[in-house]
Amino acid sequence: MFDLAHNTYHDNALQQKYVANKLFNFINNNIKLPENIIDIGCGTGFLGEKFLEINKKVCFSDISLQMINECKKRFLNYPNADFKLLNFDDYEALKKNLSTETLVISNMSLQWAKNFFKSCNNIIENSSAFAFSIPIKGSLNEWYQLLRQYNISFNGFNFIDPQEVFSFFENRNIKYEVLDTSLKFSNITQLVKNFRNTGVNCKLLTNSKNIKKLLKYRNPVNCNYKVLNCIISI
Ligand SMILES: C[S@@+](CC[C@H](N)C(=O)[O-])C[C@H]1O[C@@H](n2cnc3c(N)ncnc32)[C@H](O)[C@@H]1O
Repeated sequence: MFDLAHNTYHDNALQQKYVANKLFNFINNNIKLPENIIDIGCGTGFLGEKFLEINKKVCFSDISLQMINECKKRFLNYPNADFKLLNFDDYEALKKNLSTETLVISNMSLQWAKNFFKSCNNIIENSSAFAFSIPIKGSLNEWYQLLRQYNISFNGFNFIDPQEVFSFFENRNIKYEVLDTSLKFSNITQLVKNFRNTGVNCKLLTNSKNIKKLLKYRNPVNCNYKVLNCIISI
């Protein structure tokens, strides 16, 4: 999915870029940075790039070879950049790439994890700190509302409830902030195009009659994400 979007992602993922900038500032203002950082699910590297710019060593890792290749092109001139094909659902492989002196960062990627909490466990047991952003409940609500109106199911996300995250980390040193980002599209076709360009699988579970009806909805539509930025110091 992200392989297909590798050459459109960077210029279209405006909301992911906005969140990466916010998360970078949040991290920078709240923890002492170690030398080594690994960006998991790095995409084209919006977040890791910020750390390269302040001379940290950054390993860009992603499950998509095409995304890693995009990073390689973008960070060719940075001697501190390293690149790795890595699936964060492969706990053993991930563990091998972590150390107690490494900060793990992840921007808008862990919603794709097979088991978000298992991934978190693996990371916090094997690193010095973990900072991530993840879209939460309340994201894409205008889109979901429209689909309900037209009796259409969406094979999309089950956005996590932030309360579950807080209870999971209740015995940890956690800092968090919640962000809202919204982008207006002139119509549904433009929004669906943006989903495709940013690697969001938008398989609609319905018949062609309902899709035709939906596409006749000609009003502007908002793509909104409610995002949880978290830092777990270990
Ligand atoms: C929405 S993009 C976010 C990319 C980037 N972090 C950013 O700030 O733009 C999600 C990324 O997660 C990667 N991804 C999805 N599942 C993954 C997995 N199991 N292991 C590693 N990366 C994964 C995708 O290939 C994609 O690059």
